[in-house]
Amino acid sequence: MGYVGTRHAAPIIVDGLRKLEYRGYDSAGVAIHDGQSIEIVRTLGKLARLGDALEKRPLAGSTGIGHTRWATHGRPSEANAHPHSAGPVAVVHNGIIENHVAVRQELEVDGVKFLSDTDTEIVAHLIHRELSRGKKPLFSAVQAALRHVVGAYAIAVVSREEPDVVVVARHGSPLVVGLGEGEMLCGSDIPALLAHTRSMIFLEDGDVAELRASGVRCETVSGEVVTRKAKHIDWSPVQAERGGYKHFMRKEIHEQPEVVEATLRGRIDLAEGDVYAAEMGVTPEVAQSIRRVYFVACGTSHHAAIAGRYWMEQLAKVPSVVELASEVRYREPLFYPDDLVIAVSQSGETADTLAAVKAAKAGGARILAVANVLDSAIPRMADGALYTHAGPEIGVASTKCFTTQLAALLLLAVYMGRRRSTLPQERAQKVLQALWEIPSHQREVLGDADYVHAIAKKLVHAKDVLFLGRGLGFPIALEGALKLKEISYAHAEGYAAGEMKHGPIALIDEQLPVVAVCPRDAQYEKMHSNLQEVRAREGQVIAIATKGDEAMLELAQHIVWIPKAPDEVMPLLTVLPLQLIAYFVANLKGNDVDQPRNLAKTVTVE
Ligand code: F6R
Repeated sequence: MGYVGTRHAAPIIVDGLRKLEYRGYDSAGVAIHDGQSIEIVRTLGKLARLGDALEKRPLAGSTGIGHTRWATHGRPSEANAHPHSAGPVAVVHNGIIENHVAVRQELEVDGVKFLSDTDTEIVAHLIHRELSRGKKPLFSAVQAALRHVVGAYAIAVVSREEPDVVVVARHGSPLVVGLGEGEMLCGSDIPALLAHTRSMIFLEDGDVAELRASGVRCETVSGEVVTRKAKHIDWSPVQAERGGYKHFMRKEIHEQPEVVEATLRGRIDLAEGDVYAAEMGVTPEVAQSIRRVYFVACGTSHHAAIAGRYWMEQLAKVPSVVELASEVRYREPLFYPDDLVIAVSQSGETADTLAAVKAAKAGGARILAVANVLDSAIPRMADGALYTHAGPEIGVASTKCFTTQLAALLLLAVYMGRRRSTLPQERAQKVLQALWEIPSHQREVLGDADYVHAIAKKLVHAKDVLFLGRGLGFPIALEGALKLKEISYAHAEGYAAGEMKHGPIALIDEQLPVVAVCPRDAQYEKMHSNLQEVRAREGQVIAIATKGDEAMLELAQHIVWIPKAPDEVMPLLTVLPLQLIAYFVANLKGNDVDQPRNLAKTVTVE
């Protein structure tokens, strides 16, 4: 986060960092220029500690930078916290400098003494070296220094010698510049800037920009002048606040009906049984010529992609695969020009997904991004984008982004099915009608949150929990397990129920809670048999089942009922109780729900 203008920079920066804290939170710091010199304050631990330190030692000045860190190189400590300084320069950095060891050695030979274990500190020294060699102003020194840097970065730099300037640069890590009235801001994500402006510039890889209160100028690292147009952001600052909720995650769970509706709005034609999404760049000809759909994604987005694959095969009859992006990049995957590679990423910045997209592009494949953040790196690299409209998601554990991804992927499958004549109009109408009714069904499920809370109490002491599902229930079982792991720190495993007898059934005893995604869908009978196997071994069953399913009463100790709905849209309902279970268990344990240990929201490192 950075600021240059006429107001006090420190409170604006700390407030912006608060909105970014979900990206990392093991240490934090600011560097503020008071017109004469630069003062740096850094603290170990969460941002609140920095706030306290700044109350004791307020920093005056209207130019500054700040950072909240998620450790990659060097353990969390005050010495490793950003900003890092060298001579007149202070730097904050996201990303990883890959050649930092070699550069560090080179600088040490020149007599530089390092004060931290971070890769970032070399950037400060490189800029200082350029300034000492007469490369001025700071903007030029930063350009020259970055020519020695290999890796991913978004940096913001201030110098004692230039009190009214913040220089920023990006390569592989996100960076947004906010254009205010007589002031400029920068941050690594939109929410940090929303309270001050909605006019933003998304820098591109290789850009270096000089921010002054009066304006921004931009060049590439190699000195070519570039113009980046400002975009208007329609997220509201209120969306980035907790409202009346204790945690962002709980708020975001309850926002799902609204944001799923926003994702569907304007894209569905119920009368025609069709979907409009021209922005995807998938023309009818392209849709017909695709021979394979290849989904790449990580974590929760990977789970959405698994559902996307089922829909794509069922409705559009396109052979489809889904791969963890973090694995694709380390294989030698084969991509072809008639592949449609769908990169699912809420942040649009995940390094592994971006790398998989690059590999697919190199193979000549067409790329479609399903993302939540406008103009982020993955949509920018793609041939087209289908945006979800979840608004800012602050809780580290993804909830509303997941269900909007599901909605977008189902729309996509319908779109493809209609273009490829594999999906009859009548079936498309039914699916779209069901999707359109999902928000009201979701409200009904969320209305039962108190009951889910009571179930969660039974799970508070569980060390292991098994989540089972089949068909479209399988990615939901994976997602339920991931949510529980992430925020409650219990060990949880998501499994395809059909795989039970191939191993995990050995785990079942009276101690093991089994959460079963078991709606009345095409997989119901088979799931029912699996649950009988669990019960026969004294396993404790918590079922997510369809209202009116009397048979479930005999099988499960606890049941969360969900409304009847067609099979295709079930995942958008069955996941809600699982999100709530994870939330309540974590909250009952007193865990930091929004900022679970060791995790960061946007993973821009490998
Ligand atoms: C889990 C979670 C992560 C992300 C993953 C990919 O709750 O949020 O598993 O889904 O890091 O992130 P995106 O979707 O931004 O590519």
